[in-house]
Amino acid sequence: MRTRMIAGNWKMNTTLSEAKNLAQSLTTISSLQTEVVIFPPFISLETVRTSIQNSQIKLGAQTLHHEEKGAYTGEISGPMLKSVGCEYVLIGHSERRQYFNEDNALLNKKIRAAISHQIIPILCVGESLAERENNTTLDVIKTQLLETLTDIPYTNMIIAYEPVWAIGTGKVATPEQAQEVHAFIRGTLSEHYDQISAEKIRILYGGSVTPQNSPSLFEKPDIDGALVGGASLSTESFINIIQTH
Ligand code: PGA
Repeated sequence: MRTRMIAGNWKMNTTLSEAKNLAQSLTTISSLQTEVVIFPPFISLETVRTSIQNSQIKLGAQTLHHEEKGAYTGEISGPMLKSVGCEYVLIGHSERRQYFNEDNALLNKKIRAAISHQIIPILCVGESLAERENNTTLDVIKTQLLETLTDIPYTNMIIAYEPVWAIGTGKVATPEQAQEVHAFIRGTLSEHYDQISAEKIRILYGGSVTPQNSPSLFEKPDIDGALVGGASLSTESFINIIQTH
């Protein structure tokens, strides 16, 4: 049985005080059946860590640099994230791929860096609108998975399927569209690793998830939770998504 995960990606939103308030407002949730992780901007990690320390909410980072330390101005490394209490890190979010030219070879290095510092990677994959319209969705997803996971042994990891056309657009994939890709991802992982390992890996859906559409998405057998952007910035909607039955 895979524990449901709800992840809140705050992206480049919230000042320090806004981050603190948002984190504090979430700590009212108790006895969670669901694993909840939030991904604030780097500068708020320490403050948010303090705010959530007596709650069941966990902390994650939005990206990391693959080197441990050195002359990489502006970058943040695995040991730094570990030292501030991050248990998870997003790798290869489509915004990182698109605006920061992160390719699969680089993402492979980032996944290795996360694993070597005992931070669980959440690898994001997803097709563009043009790729979906050309019926190449499954090929694109397979290439993203196999190239980013090349020579990486099975370990505790999470995959997030986020169709690029659904991110921040209000256009959510239908539960059937999402389930088709999630099942395909699990099949690909089963070939790359083995079936038992693939059954353990949680696959989250992301892209315009709201409390309105989460119930029908979570009914699907291979949808193990959500990576939530916009709706994670509102306490009410994020808590409602967490409490989806
Ligand atoms: P969204 O973002 O929920 O605002 O569409 C999801 C994501 O980018 O992780």
